[in-house]
Amino acid sequence: MRVTVFSGAGISAESGVPTFRDAETGLWAKVDPYEISSSEGWRAHPDKVWAWYLWRHHMMGAVAPNEGHRAVAAWEDHAEVHVVTQNVDNLHERAGSRNVHHVHGSLFEFHCDRCGTEYAGPIPDMPEPVESVQPPRCVCGGLIRPNVVWFGEPLPDDAWEQSLEAVVHADLLVVVGTSSVVYPAAGLPELAVAHGTPVIEVNPEPTPLSASATVSLREKAASALPGLLQRLPSLFD
Ligand code: OAD
Repeated sequence: MRVTVFSGAGISAESGVPTFRDAETGLWAKVDPYEISSSEGWRAHPDKVWAWYLWRHHMMGAVAPNEGHRAVAAWEDHAEVHVVTQNVDNLHERAGSRNVHHVHGSLFEFHCDRCGTEYAGPIPDMPEPVESVQPPRCVCGGLIRPNVVWFGEPLPDDAWEQSLEAVVHADLLVVVGTSSVVYPAAGLPELAVAHGTPVIEVNPEPTPLSASATVSLREKAASALPGLLQRLPSLFD
């Protein structure tokens, strides 16, 4: 069986990583997404954007995968599993998943905003958020930025192609912890629905996908994902 998992911030919530759109604790409730996560924002104040990403970089390094990430990794004992994630953390990999496609990039990779050269130099540790930190400079004079997709930027070609493949060839798509509102990524479950592939949504809250998902489990990732494959016969009754 080929299982593809499409994950969002909710799968990492029980590891202690804030989601984006939670009204109180969400990242977007605290900062203006377009100021801190767009190429315009970067051009206007790279020091502010860099400081915010350094803090998130620290936070992701300080947390651990939860039972949800571990369950998905363990499915590889029973199925061919691909993980398509919108998350820029590395918790799926750290849990042991081998085929992870990061459609919104990674907080653990950096490149020059001018010449594109990969940056492997030191990254300052930022345990507490601060207002402003000057990003390192590339030898070409450009600024080093995180390898994440900002609003208005295209998704990385390779990850997107591999994600389309993984969704089109799946026998089952498990959509977990995403509000399903950010496109083009949110189009992946719609593609599976259009192909007649069974789609299981795991999310304590309803989303725009809920109506078209084959099954919507109003459960949290860390409790729903362990044992989900064993539950399949009863879910599709
Ligand atoms: P959101 O913050 O939009 O949505 C998180 C979803 O997780 C919500 O629907 C919650 O109900 C759900 N959730 C919360 N706790 C959960 C749990 N324990 N188990 C399962 N689900 C839970 O995050 P994303 O959908 O990932 O893009 O956001 C998509 C994109 O918007 C992000 O990748 C980011 C952001 O702007 C970029 O930065 C490009």
